[in-house]
Amino acid sequence: MVRQHVNPLSRFHQQPRALPLLAELFAEPERPLHLDIGAARGRFLLELAQLEPQRNYLGVEIRRPLVEAAETERRSLGLGHLHYLFCNANVSLQNWLALLPPGLLERVSIQFPDPWFKTRHHKRRVLQPSLLLALAAALAPERQLFLQSDVPAVIAPMVSLVEASGCFVRPPADTRPWRQDNPLPVPTERERLVLSQGLPVYRVLFLRNEQQPPPLTTLEQSLVATDNPA
Ligand SMILES: C[S@@+](CC[C@H](N)C(=O)[O-])C[C@H]1O[C@@H](n2cnc3c(N)ncnc32)[C@H](O)[C@@H]1O
Repeated sequence: MVRQHVNPLSRFHQQPRALPLLAELFAEPERPLHLDIGAARGRFLLELAQLEPQRNYLGVEIRRPLVEAAETERRSLGLGHLHYLFCNANVSLQNWLALLPPGLLERVSIQFPDPWFKTRHHKRRVLQPSLLLALAAALAPERQLFLQSDVPAVIAPMVSLVEASGCFVRPPADTRPWRQDNPLPVPTERERLVLSQGLPVYRVLFLRNEQQPPPLTTLEQSLVATDNPA
């Protein structure tokens, strides 16, 4: 049985994991890379990778049995431009992103990421300031960061964090505060479920701008100031 949620702050999940060589993950490692954080059982990337085979796809997920099942399916289809890895994104990704060749990362998606709605569970959420800065450092100008959720209390702090960094802008034509449509051609499993229930999905596409990422302390202080306006 696969657990519904795992606590990313548990001691077991604090162990950093090594990033395998890209040549061990992908048949053509120099292709542009789409990183999906919180890939779960991986069906979104499995479909997208077959629809748009021109880039590589990496799904990361903290529930190991889901990663193993996704990898088994990927291997059975012989897809050399898709891979799933087990890790806690908040523990391992910062190092992994720094190891990527400059310019390789084309798009990052974080979709329906968290079961942690309560304010006291903020530290369990996937998009922490240090991860956002690592993403900003790895994404070249114009590259994409796509966020979506059905829970306003989850997506609103993610958007505030991205905006506080100063490193991303929205495409000028996008409606605010949320995009009307999904810019990606494949819905995720959670997205299908939410839409089938007639419930709203909140989406934002960000494009990396030319700004240097701020120091972590500066970003954290600006978030504290936003949370506690004078
Ligand atoms: C609600 S599911 C959504 C899955 C998929 N993105 C979708 O939209 O259908 C969120 C996923 O993020 C994973 N996740 C949560 N925290 C994580 C972390 N720190 N590192 C990696 N994966 C994480 C969870 O285990 C879960 O599979």
